[in-house]
Amino acid sequence: MTALVHEPRALRDACDEARAAGRRVGLVPTMGALHAGHLSLIEVARDRGADFVALTVFVNPLQFAPTDDFDRYPRTLDGDVAACREAGVDLVFAPADGAMYPPGFSTEVRVGGVTSMLEGVHRPGHFDGVTTVVTKLLNLAGPCVAVFGRKDYQQWRTLSRLARDLDLPVDVVGAPIVREADGLALSSRNRYLSSAERGRALALVEGLRSAWDAFEGGERDATAVLACARAPVEARFDAIDYVAVADPDDLSPAGATLGDRALLAVAAHLGETRLIDNVVLGEDPRPGAGR
Ligand code: PAJ
Repeated sequence: MTALVHEPRALRDACDEARAAGRRVGLVPTMGALHAGHLSLIEVARDRGADFVALTVFVNPLQFAPTDDFDRYPRTLDGDVAACREAGVDLVFAPADGAMYPPGFSTEVRVGGVTSMLEGVHRPGHFDGVTTVVTKLLNLAGPCVAVFGRKDYQQWRTLSRLARDLDLPVDVVGAPIVREADGLALSSRNRYLSSAERGRALALVEGLRSAWDAFEGGERDATAVLACARAPVEARFDAIDYVAVADPDDLSPAGATLGDRALLAVAAHLGETRLIDNVVLGEDPRPGAGR
């Protein structure tokens, strides 16, 4: 049975009740428009011992800039609840904006350091919105484990930092990226792409693969690895925000010579749509299928 609740108090009460019955609460925060990437997080929560999984659906206005896609972001609650039922989620929490940010709301949770590069440069204020809403969700649900996708790698590292810095009693887990058969990382924003753009979008994972191959072949020159990742994206995307290598833990910029592990992260635009992807060289399998 999947319960659907809209009030923050109802999320708190249901999780309190589950804990009182000896269950371990797992939290999966999302903005809805659920796809297989989101659903994989439910499985990871269970693998980490959660036997009461709460999934939240909230398009959080605080993390969108005025020029972002807040208004057109897909909202498909009925389908999301059906998918959660199918996946055996115990509780779906889908609050209204006003329930999360009532009049007079004036507190912000901000993580420094790890938020200052990559997405932080191109989406100022974005992570403050994410860390504020996730702090609220963690406080309401009180989970043992909260699961985030490595698709948003910097977000995962930021939320791990948040939990560590504030001694939050939760394991923040990063789940592997789920991809389409051709390698494109699943994203709610993929539905914005025209079919021509969908074809061009593959340049992202092709660049990551080419860099992965070079790294596996022993290439450690950061400029050479970046050139591999950049070439297909430059050829087929309309604009690049960044193609960068960074420390996989604190996201500090990598030096001229890469070590044993390096995060390679890309953000680029196809028309109105902004896509991101990444791979941890020296750790992750070759991204996507084939070739
Ligand atoms: P959203 O973009 O809906 O993503 C919800 C979770 O699903 C995030 O942890 C994201 O990294 C993960 N996810 C998305 N696509 C994935 C894929 N292809 N493979 C694996 N995981 C994937 O991220 C957010 O929402 C919001 O910022 C949120 C954390 C909910 C705070 O508002």
